[in-house]
Amino acid sequence: MNTSEVEQSRTDARESEKPAAEAPVILKLTNASRTFENGAQKVAALGSIDLEVREGECVVFFGPSGCGKSTLLNLIAGFDHPTTGEILLEGKPVEKPGPDRLMMFQEHALFPWLNVIDNVLYGLRRQRKFRFRRRLRHVRARELLQMVHLDEFEKASVHELSGGMKQRAALARALAPDPKILLIDEPFPGLDALVRAKLYAELQEIMLRTHKTILSVTHDPNEAACLADRVFVFTGRPGKIKAEIRVDLPRPRDIADPKLAEFTSRIMSELEQGAKA
Ligand SMILES: Nc1ncnc2c1ncn2[C@@H]1O[C@H](COP(=O)(O)OP(=O)(O)OP(=O)(O)O)[C@@H](O)[C@H]1O
Ligand SMILES: [Mg+2]
Repeated sequence: MNTSEVEQSRTDARESEKPAAEAPVILKLTNASRTFENGAQKVAALGSIDLEVREGECVVFFGPSGCGKSTLLNLIAGFDHPTTGEILLEGKPVEKPGPDRLMMFQEHALFPWLNVIDNVLYGLRRQRKFRFRRRLRHVRARELLQMVHLDEFEKASVHELSGGMKQRAALARALAPDPKILLIDEPFPGLDALVRAKLYAELQEIMLRTHKTILSVTHDPNEAACLADRVFVFTGRPGKIKAEIRVDLPRPRDIADPKLAEFTSRIMSELEQGAKA
């Protein structure tokens, strides 16, 4: 490392020590809503949302089916535009998708014709610092696979992986372009409890190591409490924020930790109240 890199890494270390409450706001939504129009039919999917997310935070959206959670992630990803209001990323309006915001979908979305490491390498190809540096790309891809404990499977084909392994490979690929914000839309359904527990542990390891800003959607209140710094509970469609619940437990958190129960029951009770309102 040269002197400026050492200085930078010291600054990074200091930044990462800052409590999330002092970190700069990376994402700001003001009166953001989305109504879909198909001919004469209008569907108000998402009500007016005001929200600030700080760098390095993990924010989880929790709410009834159809309340606009995926719509909200799509707006933040830049796949779609709000009907009202604005979305600012580091002070600039979100207009289109970009490598600074990567979405991990419910379906793992790996390329089946590429093996595990080539899927991760694909995510690195477009990064300037790796563009003409094949060896460095491989080193980085292996680091990412180690982070999700898939380094022994780098040459495996996608069809040879279990569901949980596919999700871990997809996580490594999503992290490859080093996005500022990772958007996760219910990536863990259909996996058994032990595999999920392992994925939660890995995701938290990644949070602690990389201080990525993560916005995630789930239907599982326990998962929300395990992963989030703040959980936003939504009302039914058009979804609005019913409650914000701060989970101030230290990380890494174990999904089976009884301390999560208090938060899980608050999340559920807000959901139920939102449904009655
Ligand atoms: N492109 C679209 N055109 C028309 N309506 C849409 C479109 N996308 C979503 N909707 C509608 O908007 C509403 C919210 O959908 P969305 O997928 O955001 O819900 P969700 O909260 O993610 O639900 P789930 O938890 O079931 O995934 C639904 O009524 C859906 O039918
Ligand atoms: Mg959805």
